[in-house]
Amino acid sequence: MKFFIDTANIEEIKKGIEMGLVDGVTTNPTLLAKEKKDPNLIIKEIMSIVSGPVSLEVISKDTEGMCREARALSSLGENAVIKIPMTEDGIKAVRILSNEGIKTNVTLVFQPLQALIAAKAGATYVSPFIGRLDDISSRGMGIIEDITTIFNNYGFETEIIVASIRNPLHVLDAALLGADIATIPFNVLKQLITHPLTDMGIEKFLKDWESIKK
Ligand code: E4P
Repeated sequence: MKFFIDTANIEEIKKGIEMGLVDGVTTNPTLLAKEKKDPNLIIKEIMSIVSGPVSLEVISKDTEGMCREARALSSLGENAVIKIPMTEDGIKAVRILSNEGIKTNVTLVFQPLQALIAAKAGATYVSPFIGRLDDISSRGMGIIEDITTIFNNYGFETEIIVASIRNPLHVLDAALLGADIATIPFNVLKQLITHPLTDMGIEKFLKDWESIKK
């Protein structure tokens, strides 16, 4: 299972890399806006420190504009992956870009048939947003199960990125389902490592060691 980090924050990416937990990065316009810096400079810096796939999102709504942006973004590095929204124009763009050998990540996927369409268009990745589904009382993880079954039924090579992760249980469920990738916010990535009993255990071991130390 690959872990991507879902952020445009350079410090978080660097810390994640130090922990060995960054197989790739996903960004989006909201994450870039949070950084309050020139997004083009942030993107260049991310590309310079990450060797795995980096998803960069287009903002055009029409196929032509999406393809134009995608070609420019993909020239930033071989690991650039172009995030395309799941729309009719987006799917047309994915087909064109896939024929040109440009990697795509179809984003804002909320139901399994959108993922099937994206895979048929040649998407490299699909990103079902499970947290946003949970937010509206719809079982987000259910669509991961369905997409996995559909992709296995037909042998699609499109990889599933479990996105919009809000807590460690989302990562656990994704792993139990055998999802290819989870894209994880930095705070959740850190939560995956810790357990209060681990901390208490260390404290007790150190205290007991102190009591016998000569
Ligand atoms: C995925 O690629 C998106 O960047 C992200 O997971 C969206 O998550 P959110 O619902 O927390 O905004």
